[in-house]
Order: sequence, then C-alpha cells, then structure tokens
Amino acid sequence: MLVVIKESSKQVGQEAARIVANSLRANPKIVLGLATGSTPLGMYEELIALHKSTALDFSHATSFNLDEYLGLAPDNPQSFHYFMHSNFFSQVNFSPDKIHIPDGAFRKDYSAYCDEYERAIKNSGGIDLQILGIGRNGHIGFNEPNSSLASRTRLKELTQETIEDNRRFFPQGAEIPECAITMGIGTILDARRILILATGKSKAAAVAKAIEGPISSSVSASALQLHPDVTFLIDEDAAYALTQRDYYRRVLELTKKYTPEKFQ
Ligand code: F6R
Repeated sequence: MLVVIKESSKQVGQEAARIVANSLRANPKIVLGLATGSTPLGMYEELIALHKSTALDFSHATSFNLDEYLGLAPDNPQSFHYFMHSNFFSQVNFSPDKIHIPDGAFRKDYSAYCDEYERAIKNSGGIDLQILGIGRNGHIGFNEPNSSLASRTRLKELTQETIEDNRRFFPQGAEIPECAITMGIGTILDARRILILATGKSKAAAVAKAIEGPISSSVSASALQLHPDVTFLIDEDAAYALTQRDYYRRVLELTKKYTPEKFQ
C-alpha cells in the first residue's frame, strides 16, 4: 500500500488527475471506477483542464460509478447522475454509451438489477482503476460499517451519520434518501488498481483506521489492506492521525527511485 501525503487538498486533486491521465494515456480503453462527493471534485476539475489544454481523450474509456441514492431520478440535482454529468461528463468527451451509473429507481427486484450491474462490469473486462473517497465512518462506496468484506453491488441502508454528512448537499428541509445502490467491497477489491482520496481533519480517524488498524467490517476501507495495488492519496490534515508518516514518505521516495513504474 502506498501512502502519498500532499500539503493541500488542491495538490491531492492535481496528483489524482495526473495518475488518472497517465493511466488513460497508457490505455485509452481504460475502465474507470468513479466516485462522487466533495473529495474528488478537484480531480475532476483538473481532468477537465487537461482535456481542454492537452486534448486528453476520454472517448474510448468506460466508466462505472460506485453508487446512487435510492429514489432519486437522474435529473434530480442531488442525484449522483446529476453530479457526474454537471461536474465531469458534460465537460469532457466521454461517450454517453460508455458511462454507467447505478439506477436509483424504486423497483421490485433490486438483486436482479444489481447482478446486471456486476455483469456489465465483468463484460467490460473489469475495472482498471477505481477512484474512491472515504466516509468519516470509514465507508467506501456506501458500504457502511458491518458490510460484508465480500459484498457485491446491492441495495444498502445508510447510517444516520452518513445521512447527516450528506445533508449539506440537499436543500434545507429536503428528505435525504435512506438507502443507496452501491458496489460492494468485493466488487471494489476486484479492480486492478485502487486510488483512494481523503482530505481534511474530519477524515483523519477513518484514514488511520483504514491504513493502520485491523481489517474489520466495522471500517470498510480497512479491507483495502487485502488489495495488492492501493494508493492512499491524502492531504496533511487527513494524514494527521497516522503514526508512520515518516516511513510512508520514505517508502514513496524509494518507490520512485527503484520502481518508478509503480507510481505513474
Ligand atoms: C461517493 C461515495 C462515498 C464518498 C464518501 C466521502 O460516490 O461512494 O463513499 O466517497 O462518502 O464523501 P465526501 O468526499 O463528500 O467527503
């Protein structure tokens, strides 16, 4: 696991965009796993800037988003569909037919729909690079504490903490969805490479548990310790509670020196 500590959240966004752009240039048909939320916004801004300034080409790439709220239509400004289109897809040249975001519609059979989403990921060849944020409770996607570490895409009940954290994105007095469709932890761990972003002091405890704590379903992100190619890209504030910061910096220096291909 590589832990990359940057001075500011802006630098986290720039570095994340650099990694995504390099991966895309190396493999124009890349399959990306994408996240919403405030953390990756800087990355999307940088990718849009790179698209405009260097003609970074997304036209052959495929994407699968992690999650969507239950009961929000794609044109609802609080939906993740809306978020992705307004903050990213509408400003780059992604092919609409290669964009996949879970459909949050109420339905009778959620399992059948979620199995279909899993099949679509598999049929695309699997996710090459998965982008993640992390919740204050350690969730990745909407895999709330106690999610099975082997979970697949499914309907998931949100914790009160997550509902409260997400209230800031909704108009005052609006009802916040209680559930979401989310990729599972097993789905995420199938990605070939994982890049998880965290910024701000409010994430420091979750980041420390995920990187230095025991693997536990109480902290979904700790399951990433099982994956052979994970990069935590975090700012100083989010790194605050880590006990081995100096060692992580040394690992990064030596990785760049001896195996630079691991940090393209
Ligand atoms: C978003 C997602 C969530 C967020 C997490 C952090 O698609 O799956 O896990 O990454 O809740 O959200 P922010 O970045 O808003 O703090």
